[in-house]
Amino acid sequence: MFIKRRKGWEIPESEVTPEPLVLNRRALLGAGAVAAGTIFAGGLAAPVRAGAEPDPSRALYPAKRNETFVLDRDVTPESVNTRFNNFYEFGSDKKIHTAAEALKIRPWTVKIDGLVEKPQEIAIDDLLKLMPLEERLYRHRCVEAWAMAVAWTGFPLRSLLDHVRPLGSAKYVRMETFLDRITAPGQRQFWYPWPYVEGLTIAEAANDLAFLVTGAYGKPLPKSMGAPLRLATPWKYGFKSIKSITRISFVEERPVSFWEKLQAKEYGFWANVNPEVPHPRWSQASEEVIGTGSRRPTQIYNGYGELVAHLYVGLEHERLYV
Ligand code: MTE
Repeated sequence: MFIKRRKGWEIPESEVTPEPLVLNRRALLGAGAVAAGTIFAGGLAAPVRAGAEPDPSRALYPAKRNETFVLDRDVTPESVNTRFNNFYEFGSDKKIHTAAEALKIRPWTVKIDGLVEKPQEIAIDDLLKLMPLEERLYRHRCVEAWAMAVAWTGFPLRSLLDHVRPLGSAKYVRMETFLDRITAPGQRQFWYPWPYVEGLTIAEAANDLAFLVTGAYGKPLPKSMGAPLRLATPWKYGFKSIKSITRISFVEERPVSFWEKLQAKEYGFWANVNPEVPHPRWSQASEEVIGTGSRRPTQIYNGYGELVAHLYVGLEHERLYV
């Protein structure tokens, strides 16, 4: 994700460079590894399909709102949320919504494998028929110290667990994004460890807040936001909320995520929001609320402590907030 190069939030996005990228690029250059032909030409301009195909799940939306989840702020306007995104597969700035339109989201299958009673490969529309769709209003807090509030539609990750039944030996859920270097120009940048991977403990995955998202703002999920299936774990920094998932594996070993592989000191496995634990290069004490021009104090677990703090009792020796 973007790493601010100077103190403060004021610098324009155009001046911000992702440090993992800079560090890795430097290392590679230093090692003389950038040989002719090893970098794909053509920058990040993706082909845009003319005329998006109709989404076959359209009739499932809007779903009934689950009123348990209330916000302390307004929902970020859809027009803002769909045009300010992190989706490195389509570019390393926030304006990837046009490039992301190249992603083909039907047919789309999700492979469920590993330590699980009912491994399967399921088409997204079959999964949608099986799962109890509902709308939830969630806060979203990026590690870059900006925040939004979103009207997601989806189903609790726990419902999927109940359906596929992980074995007792499974300790973690590992999730993976598609890999398609032709469609996603960012994936031609070989210094990133594609595909994007994220993970949760089984206890985190079974927590009511962990939500698999298929829609937003009463409609199928826009591609820029991770269609057709993404995660929302609102008590954690946003990089845990993996987009465009194609594989969900139940595993014994803790998965090493995309960002952790790049820069483990700065992006860890747990990544729980905490205003008192700064990122190594900036404060997490407050957050910019995108679309409002204002800042707010950051809340521990992004305000969801009542629902999730118990998950971390006895784990105080871990880097819970990185
Ligand atoms: N998932 C994939 N596959 N690729 C990404 O680059 N970025 C993450 C997360 N999931 C990312 C991803 C980060 S850093 C954030 S903050 C959120 O997606 C952004 O979600 P949004 O664009 O819907 O706000």
